[in-house]
Amino acid sequence: MDLPPELLRRAAAARRVVAFTGAGVSAESGLSTFRGAGGLWGRYRPEELATPEAFARDPATVWRWYAWRWEQVAAASPNPAHQALTRWEALFPSYLLVTQNVDGLHRRAGSRDPVELHGTIDRARCERCAAERPMAEAVAESPDAPPRCRCGGRFRPAVVWFGEALPRAALARATAAAADCELFVSIGTSAQVYPAAGLIELAHRAGACVLEVNPEPTPLSPLAAWRLAAPAGAALPALTEAIARWQPSSR
Ligand code: OAD
Repeated sequence: MDLPPELLRRAAAARRVVAFTGAGVSAESGLSTFRGAGGLWGRYRPEELATPEAFARDPATVWRWYAWRWEQVAAASPNPAHQALTRWEALFPSYLLVTQNVDGLHRRAGSRDPVELHGTIDRARCERCAAERPMAEAVAESPDAPPRCRCGGRFRPAVVWFGEALPRAALARATAAAADCELFVSIGTSAQVYPAAGLIELAHRAGACVLEVNPEPTPLSPLAAWRLAAPAGAALPALTEAIARWQPSSR
């Protein structure tokens, strides 16, 4: 892979780094992205499945769709892109991983405390009292309709739906890190869904060097100082190796 020396110099010297990931980072684990060829939103309508209104109208359909996605996630494994990002914790003095993904694959790869901006499909949450339980248990108990909580409310997946606010603490951590980093690496996201995509703009405005890893350009590609137009599963291990090699001489 062709990695520009100036990129490696900057990356190896960076002290505060943010990695920001989207569905593309899990594509090589066999999980569908949302947009683009084969994407979930080409086959399903988000407003019928990923909104609070859809859940109120037809809870069983929404529950079954998330149970199906949860099964795919449970059967998937982290890929070399997730694994490479776990090494960044040791490579940079300050590092935050921010993901839009609900699949939990960063945590399963071993990343410590990633910010999950859109929640997680691993858990179900009562829509009334916010009690949580593992999705595995909730789906096993009731595969075809959302199970009821002790309080009488319905369980739903603990993800963020369109029209809902992002978890406040997660957004605050991500925003603070994006505003204060030297290197912001956007990986496998179409950079179209806000407020998450706004982190790229924030980091760029605050003077960070932006690197985009994505086979396709995105609306925010013009903000990137560098682009690696390659699958994350190839680009991230190569980039990580190269940074690790450059660091001893540059520090
Ligand atoms: P998208 O499906 O919008 O974009 C996936 C991106 O990954 C595209 O830009 C692809 O070019 C890129 N891609 C595909 N394969 C790749 C690979 N092997 N390596 C690197 N990149 C690859 O997914 P997101 O940007 O994550 O939100 O979508 C953002 C949000 O929209 C999601 O969190 C979800 C969705 O609707 C909610 O459900 C609220």
